[in-house]
Amino acid sequence: MSEIDWELRPYEASDEAAVDALLRASFDSPAEAELVVQLRKDSDAEIELVADSEGEILGYVILSRMIAPERALGLGPVATTEPHRGTGIASTLIESGLALATANDWLSVFLLGDPAFYERFGFSVDDADAFQGAFAGPYLQVAFLDEEEGPRKGEVTYAKAFARFESAD
Ligand SMILES: CC(C)(COP(=O)(O)OP(=O)(O)OC[C@H]1O[C@@H](n2cnc3c(N)ncnc32)[C@H](O)[C@@H]1OP(=O)(O)O)[C@@H](O)C(=O)NCCC(=O)NCCS
Repeated sequence: MSEIDWELRPYEASDEAAVDALLRASFDSPAEAELVVQLRKDSDAEIELVADSEGEILGYVILSRMIAPERALGLGPVATTEPHRGTGIASTLIESGLALATANDWLSVFLLGDPAFYERFGFSVDDADAFQGAFAGPYLQVAFLDEEEGPRKGEVTYAKAFARFESAD
């Protein structure tokens, strides 16, 4: 791992190729890179952030609109460049994404991932248990962004670009 200076900023259209390359390098298949392209095409990409080091993209996160009982976003994919992992880039991207979602009046953020990594950001598998849908299971987690008691249950579905992942858990 190596620490260098970088800044967090919103994704811009000119980042498309660099983000695509980062996602293709970070995952075993091109599915995640293709997913992000489709989310943008479908206008489901609500928040996209990059970690920029003098023009080099070191990290990326996307939060997309979900179909849910309340205003909810799905977080992911998130990825950082291999040489700079373990230096807090993904943590900053995730925390900033959650802060932006809160500021924009989103009420909850769902994700699929390793609970050991994501619980530090406030994500809970137990809270996600009350929700049903194709993505329900041991990896579905939710972070509530407000103090409301609310119904906090029901059917949740990721944006339609995620449909190809439905059988994966
Ligand atoms: C997962 C990933 C985004 C983490 O990025 P990062 O910039 O290294 O993350 P940070 O430096 O902010 O956090 C690193 C911490 O997360 C932990 N961590 C990373 N992946 C983890 C996992 N799968 N399970 C548990 N902990 C994990 C590290 O051990 C480290 O812990 P520490 O802070 O207690 O030392 C990065 O490894 C990556 O891009 N992986 C390939 C793509 C991927 O799997 N994305 C996630 C699924 S969408």
